Amino acid sequence: MEQRQFGPTQRAVAAIGQGTWYGGRENRASAIAALRRGMDAGMTHIDTAEMYLSGTAEEWIAEAIAGRRDEVFLVSKVLPENASRRGTIAACERSLARLKTDRLDCYLLHWRGRHPLRETIAAFDQLMESEKILSWGVSNFDVGDLREVRAIAGSGHPACNQVLYHLEERAIEHAVIPWCRQNGTAVVGYSPYGHGDFPGPRTAGGRVLQEIAETHHATARQVALRFLVRSAELFAIPKGSTTEHTLENAGAGDLQLSEAEMARIDKAFPPGPPPRSLPML
Ligand SMILES: NC(=O)c1ccc[n+]([C@@H]2O[C@H](COP(=O)([O-])OP(=O)(O)OC[C@H]3O[C@@H](n4cnc5c(N)ncnc54)[C@H](OP(=O)(O)O)[C@@H]3O)[C@@H](O)[C@H]2O)c1
Repeated sequence: MEQRQFGPTQRAVAAIGQGTWYGGRENRASAIAALRRGMDAGMTHIDTAEMYLSGTAEEWIAEAIAGRRDEVFLVSKVLPENASRRGTIAACERSLARLKTDRLDCYLLHWRGRHPLRETIAAFDQLMESEKILSWGVSNFDVGDLREVRAIAGSGHPACNQVLYHLEERAIEHAVIPWCRQNGTAVVGYSPYGHGDFPGPRTAGGRVLQEIAETHHATARQVALRFLVRSAELFAIPKGSTTEHTLENAGAGDLQLSEAEMARIDKAFPPGPPPRSLPML
């Protein structure tokens, strides 16, 4: 599994990690086994949130990482309604207790809400001082929000911006990815399979993925994941609930695509025009 530096942190993190939203809802034992097999295959970047299954996702993840905490780059998120100065600290402590750990490798504001960013960032700073978190970032932030974070927190922040990114949703390529690249912020793409809506083999784009996959003895999903992490600041966190899915996803970690193959995928899934709400750099 390819690892790369995670934003301004000095940590090498798996380019393909593991999401956990809705994971463990139907079959907790299978989700735990899948997460562990994914870790065996190098997918040690594990993403969760206090929101997922109302905190119970963090509880089953604790079982999955028991005895293996040091292998993992563990990320959780505070809900916007909890993201006041005191609320963020309390939410982090609840997440640490559920995860049965003493630290998070990265702690994110899940999306921007009513609490001033300055308060949330002050709480993140306090959590850093007490080493309950080792870095912090944001999620679902546009360039304007990122600039505000930078103005408050200074360079080296945020460590990452976790955002929607898959072949049929490439809006972040217009301004968010360029801003993050310029400012040394990692971009963690969530829902890389479109939250279960992956291009089928009978669609034009799906056929392109399949053809490229066949030349590499790979799968269409592996080709898609590799495209989504094609530059050094990009990470992807697919969610697989079964060992079969997880191991397939891990297989993207060392796949190499040529420039020509990347260009074919780019053409098959065009990024579209910049969204009106995203200011250009
Ligand atoms: N920050 C945010 O606001 C935010 C928002 C959304 C998601 N996220 C994070 O990103 C993670 C991933 O996004 P997501 O869960 O929305 O969707 P996703 O990873 O795009 O898709 C998950 C779906 O793909 C299926 N799948 C996974 N691997 C597969 C494979 N190899 N073959 C066939 N099907 C496969 C899963 O099925 P099975 O479950 O049956 O394996 C599930 O139905 C989340 O779990 C969460 O950690 C963050």
